[in-house]
Amino acid sequence: MTTEGLPSLKAILTYLLRRFVHPDFHSAVAKMTIIDAFLFLIVHYVDKLGIWHRLPVVFGLLYLAARRHLNQQYNLINVGVTPAGVRSNPIDFPYRTDDGTFNDPFNEATGSQGTFFGRNVPPFNHDDKRVKPDPMVVAAKLLSRKTFKDTGKQFNMLAVSWIQFMIHDWVDHLEDTQQIELTAPAEVASQCPLKSFKFYKTKEVPTGFYEIKTGHLNIRTAWWDGSVLYGSNSERLGKVRTYQDGKLKIADNGLLPLDQDGIAISGDVRNSWAGVSTLQALFIKEHNLVCDAIKNDQPELGDEELYRYARLVTSAVIAKIHTIDWTVELLNTDILLAGMRSNWYGLLGKEFKDKYGHLGGPLGSFLSGLVGLQKPVNHGVPYSLTEEFVSVYRLHQLLPDTLQLRDTSAAPGPNKSPPLIKEIPMKKLIGLEGERTIQDIGFEKQFVSMGHQASGSLELFNYPEWLRDLVVHDVDGRERPDHVDLAALEIYRDRERKVARYNEFRRSLFLLPISKWEDLTDDKEAIQAIRELYGDDVESLDLLVGLMAEKKIKGFAISETAFVIFLIMASRRLEGDRFFTMNYNEETYSKKGLEWVNTTETLKDVIDRHYPEMTNKWMNSVSAFSVWDSPVQTPNPTPLYLRIPS
Ligand code: HEM
Repeated sequence: MTTEGLPSLKAILTYLLRRFVHPDFHSAVAKMTIIDAFLFLIVHYVDKLGIWHRLPVVFGLLYLAARRHLNQQYNLINVGVTPAGVRSNPIDFPYRTDDGTFNDPFNEATGSQGTFFGRNVPPFNHDDKRVKPDPMVVAAKLLSRKTFKDTGKQFNMLAVSWIQFMIHDWVDHLEDTQQIELTAPAEVASQCPLKSFKFYKTKEVPTGFYEIKTGHLNIRTAWWDGSVLYGSNSERLGKVRTYQDGKLKIADNGLLPLDQDGIAISGDVRNSWAGVSTLQALFIKEHNLVCDAIKNDQPELGDEELYRYARLVTSAVIAKIHTIDWTVELLNTDILLAGMRSNWYGLLGKEFKDKYGHLGGPLGSFLSGLVGLQKPVNHGVPYSLTEEFVSVYRLHQLLPDTLQLRDTSAAPGPNKSPPLIKEIPMKKLIGLEGERTIQDIGFEKQFVSMGHQASGSLELFNYPEWLRDLVVHDVDGRERPDHVDLAALEIYRDRERKVARYNEFRRSLFLLPISKWEDLTDDKEAIQAIRELYGDDVESLDLLVGLMAEKKIKGFAISETAFVIFLIMASRRLEGDRFFTMNYNEETYSKKGLEWVNTTETLKDVIDRHYPEMTNKWMNSVSAFSVWDSPVQTPNPTPLYLRIPS
């Protein structure tokens, strides 16, 4: 209602819009509801000052809540016809199915194997830019590693293996049968290990919908359901189960068993390496121990029931570790520590939730967290993972050139560090050869070595050269004859899949676009190299290049641009899944099972259950994901919510 003589709220907002808002956002804001436009103004104002990560923790959390709301409203885009399946009764499926079907009660197919990737940003038409600059030139001139740069003590090789372990749970694009060939232009041929290489196109599938006409299919289940251990369909699941007491197959030496062709047996073994296979082995042991614990409590349960409970529990343990252990090391700030813990436990914290349970109600997700919500929340868009999610997880720069193998039979040195034995080239640790190498190294030495080694940092000029001449696998882990240059292929893939270029990507997420290279980075060498390829056309910058070049927020191992996708999707993986919301209860998980998840906090907890000596002897750091010989930190006496970033 407008009072005579006074401007309406809409008129005030329109005035503010013209006055303060970056012109690129005018049309988007004009379409927003009044409340969203108001939230946008706040977020945008803070963005212009560039200070959200320096705000006191409470204000930082408010900023993130407002930003997440906006991104949930405007950056969840369905691909394909919806609903794709039929309704189902959750009571008929109190467990995670083999292929991810029947999780969403309103749509049986949601998130299952073979469904469409959604989008956070509308498909981008690369037009003639699609081929420019040549992906091989981008790989050679901007990505390729010059000298290895690491992340200091922040993030270790267990953390790197962990995120690949997660990727192999979440996403993989279905390929076409048609091959494409990329050839290095003469100007960079000498800097390219492969002068040309062949690979399969991503399969483009009609959606049957008029807005986004084609899309791509995810051959892994999109749910956080442990498919890296269990597979994404019945056939694979059949290979990993023992069919006794609910357990999964594991070799006597604590590693993954191998089939007659030397291929590891696990949920997903494609394009993998020894680091990921040791994590798979650890969580198979965890699954099997959960089976024992539940059987001990309820001896009447048979193989199928034990398997189903243990899968739910193990998947939830993995999701919890990722949320409150892995992510807080990746985004090492007090705001994110508070934010990630509140995603799981709510602002009132663990003690309160353990005592009183989930509060429910309109503020329930803030006060008691996303886990345990009364109903799954999908913000009006059926759950899926997205093309942009895949793109920001292109983190191959985290990988070093060698594994630094440590001697775990020696006495610990300063800060519990084991002496170095030798450096093993990463090439010897990947794929089929990797499975042979790990048989000699053994679980413990591999794990401790990864704990003590820093990851590569996510920057330009830090893409491992060994990934530019790589043997790749088919879905079953068999080696293909054609090697690929993964750096060039990644540039090609983002363009092929119509993922927006860097600046449009930012704009679509309501992040300030750059107008000159100096807005992106202070690094003069990087700017010069970027300018040689892209001139002054900031709109043509490839996403992956922008993500690596971007100035990082203090404590963040990834770019802010990538972080915004994480902000949307990390919450969605929990709140969109009925097994983390309405079915996160004793009835579905079993009493023992729910207690197991509620009393597990970190990767260290899981290691300690299976290798009780290891962390005590070799781990000085607080988290298993930071370098294990990190000096002990003095605890911060200020309560978390009252902290102000230094
Ligand atoms: C030894 C380690 C690794 C190897 C050999 C490897 C290899 C590969 C290969 C061959 C592809 C498919 C390329 C294509 O055809 O488009 C791929 C895709 C991908 N990798 Fe890796 N990778 C490794 C580690 C990692 C790590 C540490 C991450 C970090 C998150 C990662 C994230 C991804 C993502 C997001 C994709 C795209 C998946 C998709 O297209 O759906 N990878 N990788």
